[in-house]
Amino acid sequence: MSNPPAADFVDAVRDLLKRAPTPFYAYDLRRLEGRVARYQEAFRGARIFYAIKANPRLRLLERLRSAGLGAETVSLGEVLRAYAAGYMPDQVVLNGPVKPPAALRELARSGVPVLVADSPADLERIARILPGAEVLLRLNPDLPVDTHPHLATGRGDSQFGVLPGDWPGVFARGRELGLEMRGLHLHLGSDLNNPADFAARLEVLERLRARVRFLAVLDLGGGFGLEMDPAKLAPEMFALARRFGAELWIEPGRALVADAGVLVARVWAEKQTRRRYLLLDAGMTALLRPLLYGARHPVVPLYASERTAVYDLAGPACESGDVLAREVELPVPREGDALLFLRAGAYGGAMHLNYLDHPPPGEYAWDGARWEVWRRPGRLPPLWEDEPDQPEYP
Ligand code: LLP
Repeated sequence: MSNPPAADFVDAVRDLLKRAPTPFYAYDLRRLEGRVARYQEAFRGARIFYAIKANPRLRLLERLRSAGLGAETVSLGEVLRAYAAGYMPDQVVLNGPVKPPAALRELARSGVPVLVADSPADLERIARILPGAEVLLRLNPDLPVDTHPHLATGRGDSQFGVLPGDWPGVFARGRELGLEMRGLHLHLGSDLNNPADFAARLEVLERLRARVRFLAVLDLGGGFGLEMDPAKLAPEMFALARRFGAELWIEPGRALVADAGVLVARVWAEKQTRRRYLLLDAGMTALLRPLLYGARHPVVPLYASERTAVYDLAGPACESGDVLAREVELPVPREGDALLFLRAGAYGGAMHLNYLDHPPPGEYAWDGARWEVWRRPGRLPPLWEDEPDQPEYP
């Protein structure tokens, strides 16, 4: 199911290992471009806002902006990052259940993106601080969603959006407040690989259509799992947008970048407790997804050996949950041999933790001829630079 990395990319990673400290992230730009082209083709005529949380490296954002994509963001920091990568405010959508007043005031200074109001309180606050702003209202479709519970934002018991019964009233209130209410936003959840979820969403919107006459924008969010074919999903989504008289917007993150990236780690020991382990220099602080979502990232060895064994792959943290994969059959390594964790281009480097004073891994992109630095490997003293070593008072 998972696409093996290109052979010349693997050779290039081997070469980079001579210069770059592990763990690091490596991206194959050709694969990235292939994914972006596939989505652009399937959704020609729609606006695509890349969800920058998946991988926010500036060089990547600049590249996607040049390819014509907008940016979907979820914090003041992400909006300012998008601006730093050259996006204009009207190319940026700001989501999120909490937009503190200080963040909205900063946006008044630095440029007001399209805002997605997530609750009545959010709407009132936006109207107060950013009068006349362009706004979408987020709908909570109240659907069971087939993914990890942490990733199912469209369930009725989640904290996101406004339930279908309340939606028309809140939307009308936005108009009363003088906001430019452009349309509806709906994000079901992430890592969706069951077409039934996409179909159920269309039905909810079809029912809402009886109460909503016209919308300028229908933003159907992200969530496209790696197994989904955008060409199969797009026609229904376009048809629905047309019935609202709306322009279709989407916000893919993972689908564009996950498959382009690998995490590269070295093995520093083989060890037997009641289970057989390989101990690596990467764990939960470099790649949090296995611990947080039980995510499985396929593993590829960069070394060969005649014998194989079945291993659990543990990281350097002092937590028994610090295991990146279990029961993987691998050639028996020697000290310092390297492994690739696949499908790590989305929510990998982006979710790195400084916990245990692990500096951020370096990130590098390969264009088929050479490596480019996307993020230098983090350095240690800067990790504690903001901590006074003398008394200091706020
Ligand atoms: N739009 C909204 C409003 C979102 O909340 C998200 C993701 C996206 C778009 C992009 O979703 P995608 O196309 O990437 O599925 N850290 C988790 C994923 C969290 C996603 C949060 N929201 C993980 O590692 O799987």
